[in-house]
Amino acid sequence: MLLHVEAVFYFFRHWESGESTIEKRGDDLKRDIKQILHSVMLENKLSKEEIIFLLSDGFSDKRELLTAADRVRKQFMGNAVHLRGIIEFSNYCERNCRYCGLRAANRQLKRYRIEEDEIISTASESVALGYRTVVLQSGEDSFYEADKIAFIVKRLKALPGLAVTLSCGERSAEEYRLWRKAGADRYLLKHETADPALYKQLHPDMTFDNRRRCLYRLREADFQVGSGCMVGLPGQTLEALADDLLLLKELDVEMAGIGPFIPHPRTPLGSAPAGTVEMTLKMLALARLLLPQAHLPATTALGTIDPSAHRKALQAGGNVVMPVITPQRYRNLYEIYPHSTTCQDDNPDYGRRCMGKVIASLGRTVAEGPGHSPKPPFGRMRVVRVKMEG
Ligand code: 5AD
Ligand code: SF4
Repeated sequence: MLLHVEAVFYFFRHWESGESTIEKRGDDLKRDIKQILHSVMLENKLSKEEIIFLLSDGFSDKRELLTAADRVRKQFMGNAVHLRGIIEFSNYCERNCRYCGLRAANRQLKRYRIEEDEIISTASESVALGYRTVVLQSGEDSFYEADKIAFIVKRLKALPGLAVTLSCGERSAEEYRLWRKAGADRYLLKHETADPALYKQLHPDMTFDNRRRCLYRLREADFQVGSGCMVGLPGQTLEALADDLLLLKELDVEMAGIGPFIPHPRTPLGSAPAGTVEMTLKMLALARLLLPQAHLPATTALGTIDPSAHRKALQAGGNVVMPVITPQRYRNLYEIYPHSTTCQDDNPDYGRRCMGKVIASLGRTVAEGPGHSPKPPFGRMRVVRVKMEG
């Protein structure tokens, strides 16, 4: 992709015209902004300091950042929005993440596992409704030995044209390889936070090192890898958020889920404040600039704190939405955080139709295919230059 020089200069001029921040901080900052944008548009790269600056209050012209991300999304990912249907097949979890309603210590939650046949029939219905990817998600539930999941994956892959994403937590390299061999296309394992000390506080029985190791195991098993983080965790600094983005870049992820932290009343963090829409959108926009060809969902968590946030996320670099297609009688039990009612209804077609309307109102379309990653394989990352026309 060649850079359209005039258009880039137009963009810089346009950027500079947002005088509010610039007036406050003088010429140095003007130069900084130019440099920052220049490097990210030409090299898809930002330093940690630059990221911290763009996330900080000192850089208040967030509109320009979101607009830049929207343009980059349009150039590299097009106007189509991919739908991924999530089947939350077990809410059992052996972990105790301090933010999550599914934590083992939450004994007030009724636990369920969906029978294999019901998982398959749910996926099959979703294919009929037009979904081309299902995401099988659960807590960390060792009831599902590797073979069991592999068997379910094989049955799902027998459905026509369906991509399968697994999201079942940390497992051994062998298990990941088995699932890939069974036909699973993608694996979603959020790193949650890239600050090892904060990670330890939030996950008493886990370590950041192991999380990172698992992500590299997934790479070695040849999955399309999704990771991501929460925004606004208690004790999370701007530096930690910058590290989150730099880790996503290092992993060269095919997908990055970035959503706000939402307090769940039956967890130790129940009275902490939620993450903000504003900071989440800035993180999403920066992820788009750093990873122009990654899939970036408008997360369910974002829709929970602001019903219009799906729209905003799709206009700040997002190109994926993930409606929950779990059979209705289990839905309220998969309560990682208090639920949103955005695009949720008893009718399995409702989520898709409702999101379809949001997507159409933005002049975008629903993608037809499975939406595999357009990126070159891991390790063969190349810089893509941004053309700033239109
Ligand atoms: N707020 C926001 N996201 C949460 N998750 C778990 N608990 C919360 C919460 N309270 C997210 C984590 C995890 C996924 C299953 O849900 O990012 O990876
Ligand atoms: Fe379990 Fe995942 Fe919730 Fe942690 S975040 S308690 S691993 S479901």
